[in-house]
Amino acid sequence: MTMIKRTDFASDFLWGVSTSAYQIEGAAAVDGRVPSIWDTFSETPGKIRDGSTGAVACDHYHRWEEDLDLAQAMGLNSYRFSIAWTRIFNGVDAEPNAKGLAFYSKLVDGMLARGLQPWCTLYHWDLPQYLQDQGGWNNRATIDAYLHYVDVVTRHLGSRIKHWITHNEPWCTAMHGNWDGMHAPGNKSLPLALQVCHNVLVSHGRAVPLIRANAPGAQIGIALSLHPIKAGSDSPVDLAAVSRHDALRNRWFLDVLYGRGYPAEALALVGADAPVVEAGDLDAIAVPCDFLGVNYYFPEVVVDAPDEYPLRTRIIHPEGRQRTDFGWEVSPEGLISLLERVARDYPTGDLYVTENGSSYDDHLNEDGTVTDTARRDYLIRHLTAMRDAITAGGNIKGYFAWSLLDNFEWAEGYLRRFGLTYIDYPTQRRIVKQSGEWYSAFVRGS
Ligand code: FCB
Repeated sequence: MTMIKRTDFASDFLWGVSTSAYQIEGAAAVDGRVPSIWDTFSETPGKIRDGSTGAVACDHYHRWEEDLDLAQAMGLNSYRFSIAWTRIFNGVDAEPNAKGLAFYSKLVDGMLARGLQPWCTLYHWDLPQYLQDQGGWNNRATIDAYLHYVDVVTRHLGSRIKHWITHNEPWCTAMHGNWDGMHAPGNKSLPLALQVCHNVLVSHGRAVPLIRANAPGAQIGIALSLHPIKAGSDSPVDLAAVSRHDALRNRWFLDVLYGRGYPAEALALVGADAPVVEAGDLDAIAVPCDFLGVNYYFPEVVVDAPDEYPLRTRIIHPEGRQRTDFGWEVSPEGLISLLERVARDYPTGDLYVTENGSSYDDHLNEDGTVTDTARRDYLIRHLTAMRDAITAGGNIKGYFAWSLLDNFEWAEGYLRRFGLTYIDYPTQRRIVKQSGEWYSAFVRGS
């Protein structure tokens, strides 16, 4: 493996980090913020592995300047963050909250002042609880509430933010939130999850023209969690399982976003559990976008499992593969095959890796450093994979490492550390890890 260098990439390639509001901001009841489904969920006993919540998290709401300084000091040129809807509206018919808008306004100004291009995610899972109380994403009124929120935010920030992501990982919003119940709001119903998924995608499609009107010249896209799917063996039944699994995991999103409707293979499997699709929905979802955000962590390995509804597949975790401490397979090849596949099969326009990263059980050394060599190697190998995908013709324009800081990792609480910067939670001290130092040196070209 030749050592990867920044000059292997285009000079205007974007180098960033990715974050999300609920995972870092804390300040849960400050300046008029109201509860989101993640406040409710994390306060429910048994939902979060360490019993924690995001109420304080990294206290980024108060320490944002220090955090943006860290990103600037790393030499980055872009920064992905999300807006907490719950800071902007506190009820269905409420006026926008000036304090919430002011926070994001100064945050964005802070990015621009530091040479960081703001990449704004409008929805990273933290639905206002008052909307969940009325059915959440299962209720089409939430689409209208989202459009109103998007309208207000993009009018306010549209002249300064030129990159907008409508939704982060609708798979997780829908399926973890409503099928396996691992995430807020914690429902366990496939038809509900598929309806939520559909409504979220409709809200994406209908938001795009609104953002275009409010943020002239902006680039707009969506960030999907995509997984290469591999067969657990060479047997014909396991090989056939791959396509069924892929139909819901990946094509369910890609096909409909790129105008092909939901994949027939998946529709046949889910049968009567398929979502209600209203006239005009599929055209709305297939609105042209400027880029696709690819969030890549690991491939999924599946086998034929006739008793599993609806896909008749089961995910397995074969022995002998390299894994992070979270158990996620380390597969840089998966990133290459995923990027190549997406570009080959869909007219995505520009591709950005909007998330990629690894969780290891870091600890603070006595000398105050964090030697996360495994995370550094993960990063090097994935950047090398991305370079190879570009060499092979891929239209990849930027990379956002997940994440700038250790943070509240959803159902895992603070047990999982993904940061390039270590957070010592009792003191809120930030310590750039070896991986962060490496990324910085790489980006700086040294
Ligand atoms: C992604 C999420 C992000 C973070 C990483 C580890 O699925 O978008 O918020 O939790 O996983």
